[in-house]
Amino acid sequence: MNDIVSSKEQVQNLLDFIDASPSPWHVVKTIEAQLAAQTPPWQRLDETAKWTLQPGGRYYVVRDDSSIILFVQGQKPPSETGFKIIGAHTDSPGLRIKPNAANAENGILRLGVEVYGGPILATFTDRDLSLAGRIAYKNDQDDIASILVKFDQPLLRLPNLAIHMNRTVNEEGLKLQKQSELPLILAALTEEQLPTTFFSTLLQQQTGIAAERILSWDLAVYDTQKGAFWGADSEFYANSQLDNLASCHAALQALLDNDRIDATVIPSTATQICALFDHEEIGSQSNKGADGSFLPDVLQRIVLATATDNEDYARALAKSFMISADMAHAYQPNFPNAYDSEHKVIVNKGPVIKVNANHNYTSESVSAAMFADWCEQAEVPYQKYSHRCDLPCGSTIGPITSAKLGIRSIDVGNPMWAMHSIRESAGVLDHDYMIRVMKRFFAAPIKPWRIV
Ligand code: CO
Repeated sequence: MNDIVSSKEQVQNLLDFIDASPSPWHVVKTIEAQLAAQTPPWQRLDETAKWTLQPGGRYYVVRDDSSIILFVQGQKPPSETGFKIIGAHTDSPGLRIKPNAANAENGILRLGVEVYGGPILATFTDRDLSLAGRIAYKNDQDDIASILVKFDQPLLRLPNLAIHMNRTVNEEGLKLQKQSELPLILAALTEEQLPTTFFSTLLQQQTGIAAERILSWDLAVYDTQKGAFWGADSEFYANSQLDNLASCHAALQALLDNDRIDATVIPSTATQICALFDHEEIGSQSNKGADGSFLPDVLQRIVLATATDNEDYARALAKSFMISADMAHAYQPNFPNAYDSEHKVIVNKGPVIKVNANHNYTSESVSAAMFADWCEQAEVPYQKYSHRCDLPCGSTIGPITSAKLGIRSIDVGNPMWAMHSIRESAGVLDHDYMIRVMKRFFAAPIKPWRIV
């Protein structure tokens, strides 16, 4: 199969993955379904139970429904091999429904929203929006339970103001006042209908849970438009949430593919891990975020399964390596001044090593060299990115996680356009490239992570 054909298959798979995952809670559910379909299926570990881990065993842990860590237990103890970790995030910036969301004026029911992370708000206008997330309720046994909910049909809209009332929109850009101008239109009410009752009845109809039993929710606004290829040769693709579901998907494919090969040919000596966190877009500080205890807790318990003494955990971390995978800013030729002219990264030219002297990205010369070497071994091109010095640079889970664990790491990601738009796009070839280099990372022979 040539590059473009296999890449398109991988990207179609990615687009389906995103379309099935309109919220971080759905991302984890989609991954779990994929793991259940494997032979033999992966085993879910409960953090409240005692763990017994077998070499070569395939396990995953979910924390609070929207962060997930998957691992293939190595044939050798982590104190001998270190961990090979790929980290990414399950959340994307957008709008979230407030607790007392429903209100009506002149018969128009609107839902109040809060801005989650840093979306490009103007891109949310005039889209076929809907709702997806999680609802907490009291079940028939009077226990608190939660259920995922997803409305498939377009349910909500943020109509633009006509140009006749906003004459300078093309000169000044669309500015939306976050408190007053973001509520989303849901329904036209009759005089008898009350907004709150209308909304809770809608949730009841969708979930089958009596409205009075619904106690709380985490509801994200999502775009119902499906992913698509575009460009003269379909060499690009677009969808929502490419940042960072494209990286989650690449890491997952690399682990699953590698695991398949390893299971039949060469058992993997090192423990291979995908750690996919919620809450990156709001700073990662939560019980399930990259700045929380989730990853350290899981790593410690993996070590405990084989530990012979108290030094084993520290020895394992000292031999470990993490790839922090998050998307990168592709060069958009209409805006040349937004980029450092010597560090333009181009769509379809390969994964990007992100470099920042102030360590908003974790890459340093040794980890960058190691990643470049894996790219060469996988016959994958790579590029290097540095942000303009006069613009503030974004960050990732990389610095947080590597500081917490003390392990060597690198920040990489595929080039994409329109980061944090509700409709982002990227290059077809790059997705396959990223999967290939990640597979190489997982399969690469264990060497001491030391400079000779
Ligand atoms: Co991101």
